[in-house]
Amino acid sequence: MIWLGIESSCDETACAVLRDDPLEILSNPLYSQIKEHAVYGGVVPEVAARAHLEKITAITEEAIREAKISISDIDAIAFTRGPGLMGPLLVGASFARGLSRDLSIPAYGINHLEGHLSAAWLTEPDLEPPYLTLTVSGGHTELVLEEPGFKYTLLGRTRDDAAGEAFDKSGILLGLKYPAGSTIGRLAKGKNRKFYHFPRALKNEDNGEFSFSGLKTAVRRYTEVNSKEYIQANLGDITASLEDAIIDMLVSKTVWALKKTGMKTLIVGGGVSANGLLRERLGNYCKSNCIRLAFPSLYNSTDNGAMIAAAAIRRARAGLLPACSTEVKPWLPLAE
Ligand code: KG4
Ligand code: ZN
Repeated sequence: MIWLGIESSCDETACAVLRDDPLEILSNPLYSQIKEHAVYGGVVPEVAARAHLEKITAITEEAIREAKISISDIDAIAFTRGPGLMGPLLVGASFARGLSRDLSIPAYGINHLEGHLSAAWLTEPDLEPPYLTLTVSGGHTELVLEEPGFKYTLLGRTRDDAAGEAFDKSGILLGLKYPAGSTIGRLAKGKNRKFYHFPRALKNEDNGEFSFSGLKTAVRRYTEVNSKEYIQANLGDITASLEDAIIDMLVSKTVWALKKTGMKTLIVGGGVSANGLLRERLGNYCKSNCIRLAFPSLYNSTDNGAMIAAAAIRRARAGLLPACSTEVKPWLPLAE
């Protein structure tokens, strides 16, 4: 069975071709709209929708070409139905609808967060729930327990900004370009993480909740009391301290959730799961506590088409595909 996975919820226009049985990613290209949004310091929904519209056909053609299949070989389509930005979601869903009608094949709407949590499964297909999941992206930060049958229980999420947003917004305050997450990871490598102590909100509270807006305020304050020259001269140590604070909050709450649920497997997904310090710290904790830890490949950590097809394949194998529909839902939590 050949699946086409389409992702267009935010600022990546992505399409992948996956074969199931045996599971294989045949292609997974994407167009990243970083250039379009960098000038605004964040994603502009209308600009994103237009860019998706301009690129989606070319990316799909590229995915089909790279997979060395013909369009008529595709058996089913999986596209992101939410959560995400309305305009960008509509572009992907309308494209999926057109293709599904032309080819007389089904199109299934997939939850973007379920996609992120299926990305690790592409590398470790023997992963089976129950397990604890940590989603850390530009729009979400949450700890969810997944049980067989795609049953999700929310253990805690962010009260305000997402972890990726904390990286991006703090980065912009420090003079970096959007999206700043991977740049901060690079600048911070090997630098002094104790250079400055940024706040860790809710860290010691007995719950799975996160809060990053206070950190953003602390970074703003830091840029007000220190000169541009001083910040520039110490950027490595400052970003290392900032990264330390964000990762400390993520790891502390994940450890809290592991203890609370007693789960022996942890799956991480979303753009921030590409972060080296998060991988290292969770890796150390899980290793010394005999917990299986699964991350997606670096490429599949951020938004891509393969993760959407992966979620559909997992559902197809379990006989739990959603009804065919091309309706979109900008607000679509995995679990309340
Ligand atoms: O999952 P994603 O591609 O899009 C959303 O669904 O939001 O995540 C994008 C987010 C951005 O905030 C970006 O700065 C962050 O992931 N990110 C990182 C790294 N790579 C991407 N954050 C920290 N370290 C990284 N290496
Ligand atoms: Zn995402």
